[in-house]
Amino acid sequence: MNRIIEGDNLAILEGLPAGSVGLAYLDPPFNTGEARVMERVRVVKGEDGQRLGYGGHRYRSETVSNHTYEDDFDDFPAFLMPRLGAIWRLLADDGSLFIHLDAREVHYIKVLCDQQFGRKRFMNEIIWSYDYGGRTKDRWSNKHDTILWYVKDPKNYVYNYGEIDRIPYMAPRLVGDEKAARGKTPTDVWWNTIVPTTGKERTGYPTQKPLAILNRIIAVHSREGDLVLDPFGGSGTTAEAAARHRRRFLTIDQNPAAIAIMAKRLAFAAPVVERDARVAI
Ligand SMILES: C[S@@+](CC[C@H](N)C(=O)[O-])C[C@H]1O[C@@H](n2cnc3c(N)ncnc32)[C@H](O)[C@@H]1O
Repeated sequence: MNRIIEGDNLAILEGLPAGSVGLAYLDPPFNTGEARVMERVRVVKGEDGQRLGYGGHRYRSETVSNHTYEDDFDDFPAFLMPRLGAIWRLLADDGSLFIHLDAREVHYIKVLCDQQFGRKRFMNEIIWSYDYGGRTKDRWSNKHDTILWYVKDPKNYVYNYGEIDRIPYMAPRLVGDEKAARGKTPTDVWWNTIVPTTGKERTGYPTQKPLAILNRIIAVHSREGDLVLDPFGGSGTTAEAAARHRRRFLTIDQNPAAIAIMAKRLAFAAPVVERDARVAI
């Protein structure tokens, strides 16, 4: 069964059965101290419009939707660590945990996770690098996020090497035709654009992550039929990638706007939408 649950994730996670999750990915609010807002605007024809445009008509901008959530914590580790502890209990013996953070918080959380889960269970620090948007003039422009990968058991975990999507060689002529045609596996630095501001993938939810990143994580780190958990579901990127790879999903968010977007985006996977349900799966 696929599930979307509205509510604070901590209480919900604590009510789920131990060992039931094959893969957990979380993308918590990054503690920017700001409200994250995304406006979706469309241009419509109207006599009161301020802009003169195509065909000599007047046009005005209209807000279609406006999604917001608070991204502000006094003590981010105090918020996140109990949730990570609850998720760790849910992981299957060969399960994996992916924690998506940015440069301001990742070091604090990495040290605490090493203490809580054990350093030998840390597998990779994946750098997701993008090149989009404006550049600052007073420091190096920040254009990457960090994804930490931990496993429950470093001797027994899911890593579907054959499922890794291949990327082009930088100098294909140096490797021969066959290798060049096959491409190479990515390293722990993943180049991928952010979700384009226009286009089919964009839901209008702030901080929506690209499907390509979640497709890769789910294809390589889970098996068909596994339960994939995302306790900070947002627009439902993880759940969509899970369903498209024939995994089950359980996604949680406390923001009703996120639940509405997920219900629409994930309708193809016929999820049950619940409010703060604490029943066993
Ligand atoms: C960075 S966004 C996730 C974006 C998502 N990865 C996507 O691709 O759309 C973080 C989400 O966590 C939700 N959130 C924050 N605190 C929460 C909590 N305690 N319980 C459940 N959801 C929470 C916010 O409402 C927000 O939708």
